[in-house]
Amino acid sequence: MTSAQLVDTANALVADSKGILAADESSPTIKKRFDSIKIESTEENRRDYRDMLFSTPDAGQFISGAILYDETIRQSAADGTALVKKLESAGIIPGIKVDMGAKPLAGHPGETVTEGLDGLRARLEDYAKLGARFTKWRGVYTIGEAMPSAACITANAHALARYAALAQEAGLVPIVEPEVLMDGSHSIDDCEEVTEEVLRSVYNELAIQEVLLEGSLLKPNMVISGQDCPEQAGVAEVAERTVRCLKRTVPAAVPGIVFLSGGQSDELATEHLDAMNKLGELPWKLSFSYGRALQAAPLKAWSGQAANLAAGQAAFLERAKANSAAATGTYA
Ligand code: 13P
Repeated sequence: MTSAQLVDTANALVADSKGILAADESSPTIKKRFDSIKIESTEENRRDYRDMLFSTPDAGQFISGAILYDETIRQSAADGTALVKKLESAGIIPGIKVDMGAKPLAGHPGETVTEGLDGLRARLEDYAKLGARFTKWRGVYTIGEAMPSAACITANAHALARYAALAQEAGLVPIVEPEVLMDGSHSIDDCEEVTEEVLRSVYNELAIQEVLLEGSLLKPNMVISGQDCPEQAGVAEVAERTVRCLKRTVPAAVPGIVFLSGGQSDELATEHLDAMNKLGELPWKLSFSYGRALQAAPLKAWSGQAANLAAGQAAFLERAKANSAAATGTYA
């Protein structure tokens, strides 16, 4: 694998009007999603649900890549076809979440550091053999009294950079995901300040580890008001502040920035992305790597019933199409 192939994959993931489906929910997280539609989280239900998404006709027009969980990358659909093969035949690049989750940060109650570096080189080789071409690692930051701490910011940035270097060594594009959570009553000012500090530290560490920026993508939160903040910033303000923050911190060598939805409503996640892309020329592509904002509607429409397969796929295609339009600033 050459640097040129990493660059090609990174660019393909943010090809015009395409974005990423994050379907890498861990077993506890997908159980929560399934609880909401009152179906049991069995291996078979998880497989059928994800097969429904991946087999949606025409999804490849709007979706460039899908991030999978360890179980899914090894699974085959009921008809015996590997789920990875289904994605490939739809023109969707398979990716994999490789972190082992956010664990309590020693000496810092309420804060976490993401683990999973030990043994990562061998796991990456395995995932590459299974067909993955890109990877994801998520660091988590909470805004609160004296949070995030310097310890949390530096520990997570260091881990993200070590992960990104290992992923590139294995020929896999790293998606670097530092997520400043929207939980809390903080203002949009606080979110902007913290996001700026977090991104600055992440790009500092990526430089120290000599990560090839052209062969990487960033998956950040948007700059938004805390979800319990009494004053919620509007769409135009979110777009302006997010772009300002990214311009200050993310090198132009990065080909694309793919946002997480983080608990925003489907509609707002689309409107925010669209408003940013309407702001004019930007140094990088701005697109999506949504989990909930792409899946909430199809999950509900499907509700675990084989008879609802087409309804689930239609709901998924509708969200994919809307976000694809937003990725070029042409959402009506
Ligand atoms: P959400 O879009 O639901 O935040 O999920 C994206 C993701 O991959 C979180 O790690």
